[in-house]
Amino acid sequence: MLQFEILKNPNPMPETDRAKAFENLGFGTLFSDHMSVIHWSAEKGWHSAKVTARAPFALDPASSVLHYAQEIFEGMKAYRAADGQIVLFRPEENARRFNASARRLAMPELPEEDFLAAIEKLVALDSAWVPGGEGSLYLRPFMFASEAFLGVRPSREYIFCVIASPVGPYFKGGAKPVKIWVSEDYSRAAVGGTGAAKCGGNYAASLLAQAEATQHGCDQVLFLDAAERKWIEELGGMNIFFVLDDGSIITPPLGTILPGITRNSIMTLAADNNITVHERPYSFEELQADLSSGRLVEAFACGTAAVVAGIGELKHGNGSLTIGSGEIGPVTKLLREKLIGIQKQDLADTHGWLRRI
Ligand code: PLP
Ligand code: COI
Repeated sequence: MLQFEILKNPNPMPETDRAKAFENLGFGTLFSDHMSVIHWSAEKGWHSAKVTARAPFALDPASSVLHYAQEIFEGMKAYRAADGQIVLFRPEENARRFNASARRLAMPELPEEDFLAAIEKLVALDSAWVPGGEGSLYLRPFMFASEAFLGVRPSREYIFCVIASPVGPYFKGGAKPVKIWVSEDYSRAAVGGTGAAKCGGNYAASLLAQAEATQHGCDQVLFLDAAERKWIEELGGMNIFFVLDDGSIITPPLGTILPGITRNSIMTLAADNNITVHERPYSFEELQADLSSGRLVEAFACGTAAVVAGIGELKHGNGSLTIGSGEIGPVTKLLREKLIGIQKQDLADTHGWLRRI
C-alpha cells in the first residue's frame, strides 16, 4: 500500500468565504483546498503519493493526453449526516469501475486500496468542505497520460488525481421534472467501443448532441443505439429507467452503456420494495406505443451527479411526448427517497453501502 505525504495548503479559503459560497451551491464550480496526486511510470510503477494544495499541473505540450485523449475519470460523493458523520457511498464500486476503464484505455490499474486511500485522505483533510443538508462533496478521481511523446501507443507515464467540489443540485430546476432530447443524428457508443468505460472522449463526443438538447429547451440528451438507432441506451451523463402501470420498471441492459452505480443501487432498492425490474432492451418505438396506451407512467434519470431525476417530457424531431402526468411519479419519488435516505443515514444501510471517513 502506498504511503501518502500530506502537505497542507498554506492558504486555505477563509471559513467565512466558504460559508458564503455554500449558500448557493451549483455543480462543479467551487473546489476544495487540496487534491490527491499519485504518479505512475513504466520504470517505477505507482509512486509519489501525496495530498497537497490544489494547484495547476505543468504539462509538456506533447503530453499524450492532449493529443490522443488517453484519460479516464470517476464521479462519487461524500455525504454529511445530520449528526455530522461523513460517509462515502459504495466507493469500492468506483474503484472497480475505474480499473475497468483503465483496462479499456490501455492504462495501468491502480490498486483498489490506493484509490480508496487517495479519496479518504482528501475528504478527511477537506472535511469542512462537505456541506450538510441537500449538498454533498462531489469527488472526481481521474487519470491521464502525461508522457511527452507523439507516437500512437499507450503512454509510459500517468498522473492520477482526485479533486473535490461541494455541490448542490445538478439540474438548475432543482426537484422539477427534467426534459430530455432524443438524439436522432448522434450516437454515444457502438459495440466494441468505449461506451462502458468512463473516459473523457465519450463526453467530448456527447457535447454537440447535448448542445442540441439545450437548443431544444431540454436538460439532457438521450442516445439510441449506434447500429439501429432503435434501442434506448442512456443519457449524456445518466442512466435511465421507465415505470410501467403494473408497477414494474425497465432499464436498458449493460453492454454499450456506463454501468452506473446508482443504476445498480436502484435495482437493488426496487427489489427490496417488491418492484420487479426488467433489465432488457427497450425501443423508442415501444416507448411511444406504451405512452399512447397509458402503460408507461413514469421515467427517471439516475446518476451520482443527478441522483434520481424525474423525466416529465421527451422531445424529438417529430414533436414532444409527456410522460405520465408530466410530474414526478410515486415510484420515482419512493426510489429517490430510499436512496437519499441511506446516503444521508436517515435510513438503515442494510446493504453495507456506506464507508465512514
Ligand atoms: N451514464 C453516464 C454516461 C454517466 O456519465 C454517469 C455518471 O457517472 C452515469 C451513467 C451514472 O453512473 P453512476 O450512477 O455510477 O454515477
Ligand atoms: C457523475 O454523475 O458522476 C457524472 O460523471 C456525470 C456528469 C453529468 C457529471
